[in-house]
Amino acid sequence: MLKLDNLSKVYRVGAFGGKELRAVSNVSFAIEKGEIISLIGESGSGKSTIGRMILRLIPISLGTIQFNGVDISTLKGAQLKEYYRRVQGVFQDPFSSYNPIFKADRVFRIIRDAFFPGMNDADWKRKINSSLEAVGLNPNQVLNKFPHQLSGGQLQRFLIARALLLDVEFLVADEVISMLDASTRIDVLNLLADLKSRGLSILFITHDLSLGYYISQKSVILHRGRVVEMGSTRKIYNNPQHQYTRMLMASVPRLDQKWEEGAPNTAAAASYDVFSGDYAVDSAALVEVERDHFVAQHGNSPSR
Ligand SMILES: Nc1ncnc2c1ncn2[C@@H]1O[C@H](COP(=O)(O)OP(=O)(O)OP(=O)(O)O)[C@@H](O)[C@H]1O
Ligand SMILES: [Mg+2]
Repeated sequence: MLKLDNLSKVYRVGAFGGKELRAVSNVSFAIEKGEIISLIGESGSGKSTIGRMILRLIPISLGTIQFNGVDISTLKGAQLKEYYRRVQGVFQDPFSSYNPIFKADRVFRIIRDAFFPGMNDADWKRKINSSLEAVGLNPNQVLNKFPHQLSGGQLQRFLIARALLLDVEFLVADEVISMLDASTRIDVLNLLADLKSRGLSILFITHDLSLGYYISQKSVILHRGRVVEMGSTRKIYNNPQHQYTRMLMASVPRLDQKWEEGAPNTAAAASYDVFSGDYAVDSAALVEVERDHFVAQHGNSPSR
């Protein structure tokens, strides 16, 4: 459905944009219909940059993104609008992605004007109600309210409901639950799982490996803009091969492991200098170490 091929992003930085920062390098993976893929990596690893390229918010530097076989960089006008009808994003901080002076109704109205100008009031109302119900919100709880009158969890669901109004097929969910408290988190995670079971595809962006484990069958581990490990989430989680993945694992508490068992991992992670850049990442090739489990092999010093 959505296919990333050797995707790269170079930002121009520094005074007068004289320097280049390679935020994403040669990333390739595909997401099928009804699939959730987790994109996991620490802060600055390029996760949101990939999400923003998928949403056409920033241009691609190199490589391609295809949606149902069509190169999205070629979309213009009506085709681009059609793309946004099917591909939408929900972001980390629900408060910042929502204009504070707009009431919830107004946010829906903008979508109606842009995408459903011919729909009559009764049909529109039914459509709103069904998308709010799909995310577990009572229309009376949110309509006619300003964003600050909603809780973080309500607002996040409201934003997902907004995306659902648009026959959305693919959702980029960028750290959607990091701002939520533990109980609301589970609700929103379960909501995403529910949407998946109805055929929605989701790119679930997170820095938290255990959230990826909870929600997705497939994961892509990103380190400094490059894929270091990807494939079956279960296999990666139970048998991490790349040093960076092991380090990520060691830095989160695991429910299924006693602390003593996890301790050696922590020691290994501490000795791995993530920022040294000592390995030849450019020459890294992904090798299938077991079925549906790929690991980057770096130059002549394998990292596993
Ligand atoms: N508009 C921009 N101009 C220049 N550099 C940028 C820009 N946006 C992001 N970067 C840089 O690109 C790299 C990747 O950023 P990105 O936002 O994709 O990371 P992230 O994985 O989403 O991190 P986080 O978990 O903190 O959200 C970082 O080094 C960041 O500083
Ligand atoms: Mg980000």
